[in-house]
Amino acid sequence: MIVVTAKDYDEMSMKAYEAMKKVLTEKSDATLGLATGSTPVGLYKLMIADYEAGKISYKDMTSINLDEYVGLPVTHPESYRAFMNRNLFDHIDIKKENTHVPDGLNPDLAAAADAYTAYIAAHPADVQILGIGSNGHIAFNEPGTPFDSHTHVVTLKEGTRKDNARFFDNDIDKVPTHAVTMGLKDIMSAKFIILLANGSGKANAVKEMIKGPVSENCPASILQTHPNVLVVTDEAAAYYLN
Ligand code: GLP
Repeated sequence: MIVVTAKDYDEMSMKAYEAMKKVLTEKSDATLGLATGSTPVGLYKLMIADYEAGKISYKDMTSINLDEYVGLPVTHPESYRAFMNRNLFDHIDIKKENTHVPDGLNPDLAAAADAYTAYIAAHPADVQILGIGSNGHIAFNEPGTPFDSHTHVVTLKEGTRKDNARFFDNDIDKVPTHAVTMGLKDIMSAKFIILLANGSGKANAVKEMIKGPVSENCPASILQTHPNVLVVTDEAAAYYLN
């Protein structure tokens, strides 16, 4: 695991993009594992800027997202499908049919989750972007999730719903109670993982992920066992590392 501390959010996004860009330039048909949340938005802006400058094309690339809320229509602005369209897909030349986000409205969520797992197994990400929850979750794999989990439906922890209430008029009751998420084993199948973290609210989770025991109590700690992980934080999120 390589850990890089940037001075602020913009530098964090830039350093993460530099690492990602190597994959984008070396493999024109790369599979991109993508994440939602406020953390990767700066990285997505840099991807868009380079696309607009004619430096990178996504026309032969495929993407696969980590997770989606259960029960939110794709027209809801906080569905992760809407988030990805708004913050990235609508601004680059990736074909929408090549972008994959779990379907949180599927009447048979378990079967859809199994199909998602099968897709990931056949198309492991060349690069997987991750954020981290303040409790150490990655995607929506909450503390206690088995390390050998595949795509599954989860009940969100109250703390996670509180953290995400800022996207739902600060009203926790509007935050969905369930989500579909890639499992930890699916995430670990990526060839290269870039995890971004910024802000003091992530400092403890970052410390546990890097310095704590490899334990299901901190899902992100599984990344200590992956051979090719880059963690990029800002100074606030790196607070407990030194
Ligand atoms: C959400 C997402 C995660 C994300 C995390 C942090 O719950 N499911 O994929 O990494 O929370 O979000 P943010 O980047 O907004 O802090």
